[in-house]
Amino acid sequence: MAGTLRHMLRDDDVNHEEQKQILELGMKFREDRHYHMPFAGPQGVAVLFDKPSTRTRSSFSVGVAELGGYPLVIDKSSSQLGRGEPVEDTARVLTRMTSAIVWRTFGQDRVETMAKYATVPVVNALTDDFHPCQVLADFLTIAQHKGGVDALEGMTIAYLGDAANNMANSYLLAGAIAGMHVRVAGPNGFLPRQDIVEDAERLAADNGGSILVTTDAKEAVRDADCVFTDTWVSMGEEGEYAIRSKPFWPYQVNEELMSLAKPDALFQHCLPAYRGKEVTAAVIDGPQSVVWDEAENRLHAQKALLTWLIGQQRGEQSLLV
Ligand code: CP
Ligand code: NVA
Repeated sequence: MAGTLRHMLRDDDVNHEEQKQILELGMKFREDRHYHMPFAGPQGVAVLFDKPSTRTRSSFSVGVAELGGYPLVIDKSSSQLGRGEPVEDTARVLTRMTSAIVWRTFGQDRVETMAKYATVPVVNALTDDFHPCQVLADFLTIAQHKGGVDALEGMTIAYLGDAANNMANSYLLAGAIAGMHVRVAGPNGFLPRQDIVEDAERLAADNGGSILVTTDAKEAVRDADCVFTDTWVSMGEEGEYAIRSKPFWPYQVNEELMSLAKPDALFQHCLPAYRGKEVTAAVIDGPQSVVWDEAENRLHAQKALLTWLIGQQRGEQSLLV
């Protein structure tokens, strides 16, 4: 197989079969932390942060090391990128020293520029628009608890809260690719962009799923297999606490709302969580919550993603299973 340079900049950078391959690989990494070691050498992987992180930083650092590589973790404050060096030039330098580039930043255009100038795979570790690594981990968590990767197709997932943020966008695209019925609920003014909804609707039609965007939290949650929420104030929006609190209260995931989902529905939250705001303590610390498995699955899912991307680039079929 000829090698192809692939990136994960948004969730729809992979198709249905490819998403399944990555999730199946994630299941393998769950069983054996050293299932593949594609960065043995060790080869370097740049892991860049323009925003804070606990889970992404630790899972990529540990994950790259477990893949046999060396994680080169760089914060905005300690790099020339933070002083305004062009993304293009940063890409040209890092691409000569590393086997992959992972970046958490603000605008989606920044990871796109990085990918344009890099000759190694670039992974979006969260932008203002998408968080594809998180959703791979979330779907792996459903597979872990609900009978494997094949079980995802046809499931109903509901996301409540800030429906215009990166998590909502990623659930729309990734869920549609998985063939899920994706419901996203939030207040007027905090609903997803039309172009993302249209992309999700097209992908859902291709894969046997459906998309519902609504302001009705109960409609979204009814008979869902998994309920998700996220902070009402994302990184970079800290100045908007006052205007963001009030409209979101009807979307708080509490026991009453959870009781409308299937009795065995899972609850997930990408974390960090604000108990008493987007989710009550009774739900996030309750029996339906799988948030700690979800956090652990960042490690397995991202190792799977990096292994899959490197397998594509090297044309090594053995790394894709
Ligand atoms: N969920 C998530 O990405 O967490 P961090 O911000 O801690 O990386
Ligand atoms: N929507 C949140 C996700 C944090 C992992 C943010 O962007 O801050």
